[in-house]
Amino acid sequence: MDLTAPAIAETEHFSSPAQTTAVAAQLAALIRTAKHFIVYTGAGVSTSAGIPDFRGPEGAWTKRAQGKELAFDGSKTLTAVPTTTHMALVALQERGLLKYVVSQNCDGLHRRSGIMPDRISELHGNSNREYCKDCGKEYIRDFRAVSSYDKSYSDHRTGRKCAVPGCTGALHDTIINFGEQLPKTAMTRATTHAKKADLCLVLGSSCRVSPANSIPECVGRSKKGRLAICNLQDTPLEDVADEKLRIHARTDDLMTQVMANLGILIPPFILRRRLIIAMASQSRDRHQLTVTGVDVDDTPSSFLRSVKVEGSRRAVRTEPFVLGMREELEEGAAVKVELEFMGHYGEPNVVVAHAYPGEAGGSSVYGLEYDVWTKEWEVRRV
Ligand code: APR
Ligand code: ZN
Repeated sequence: MDLTAPAIAETEHFSSPAQTTAVAAQLAALIRTAKHFIVYTGAGVSTSAGIPDFRGPEGAWTKRAQGKELAFDGSKTLTAVPTTTHMALVALQERGLLKYVVSQNCDGLHRRSGIMPDRISELHGNSNREYCKDCGKEYIRDFRAVSSYDKSYSDHRTGRKCAVPGCTGALHDTIINFGEQLPKTAMTRATTHAKKADLCLVLGSSCRVSPANSIPECVGRSKKGRLAICNLQDTPLEDVADEKLRIHARTDDLMTQVMANLGILIPPFILRRRLIIAMASQSRDRHQLTVTGVDVDDTPSSFLRSVKVEGSRRAVRTEPFVLGMREELEEGAAVKVELEFMGHYGEPNVVVAHAYPGEAGGSSVYGLEYDVWTKEWEVRRV
């Protein structure tokens, strides 16, 4: 990945509302009929969530080029709420209209918003995702899973170990620094989708970083492809973009109009968590309870701070959350498991009533949905 950071930010332009309305209508019509629509996103889709970009007037690299450090605390990505643009893309994915997301963003907001893991390439990594170099196992974390780099810039070890039985591999973060190779699988999948695409929409990227920018360029240069660009600054891809589909507008404003034209509501952000509760019994009154967080594709997902059986004093505060219980239980009796979360969105504790599966043991999967606005959980067995 090459370092391109302008000393002085390129000017940001704003097309007229009428131009934005016209492009939104065109885009909606194209999305409706496209065979393989993909998007390419950059930091500009997260600026309205309070996460600065890199090359905009207030961007991190612009500030650095001016000799100033950007006062941005990286942990803010954990409390950032996915934007209108993020949620519009989720709605388009859910309807099968959006086939794939290629993103340069490391803030984790696409995955947190609900973009499926197999429908996105995070070309520059994800600050909530780490992996085992020995066995390849991935882990999603509700904390920043990034190396501190105090050892060295290219040392990506995060200090945690792989949890796969028999593997003690060191975990590494997934962040791609300048000069480092992009993740092979992610880039290959992105290129495959770019080659299939008949429509690619760039959202909030200066398109100045290679080789990531080869993805939208590939669509722009293909005979069957049309490249649309929604970005406040001009980009080096203006000449391969469809001139009627280039717009200097805020991505949220454009996507609001595109979705209105499509007649699709943009869903509110709902924080979704999945939980497996397993019980094994040594006898009628001795049981072991294991609580595991997982992502939609069963990737281990760490989002719990502690777990305890309601009424007991002892909470378990480190994974794996394994709790012992000594109580005579009838099959089907409710075992109340109290969950404490990391709390980035002010999530209150929630109690899951787990039905005791009987001495043969067994496990159940629960879907937890948290509305960040009402601060309420909904729990259902899936
Ligand atoms: N709507 C539309 N465009 C926006 C908005 C917005 N709300 N906010 C910012 N922009 C534009 C900026 O004008 C800028 O041109 O988004 C663009 C973001 O470009 P960059 O800051 O260069 O970010 P990005 O393209 O994602 O950078 C690529 O460079 O440093 C590396 O790893 C870093 O992944 C990053 C890569
Ligand atoms: Zn491993």
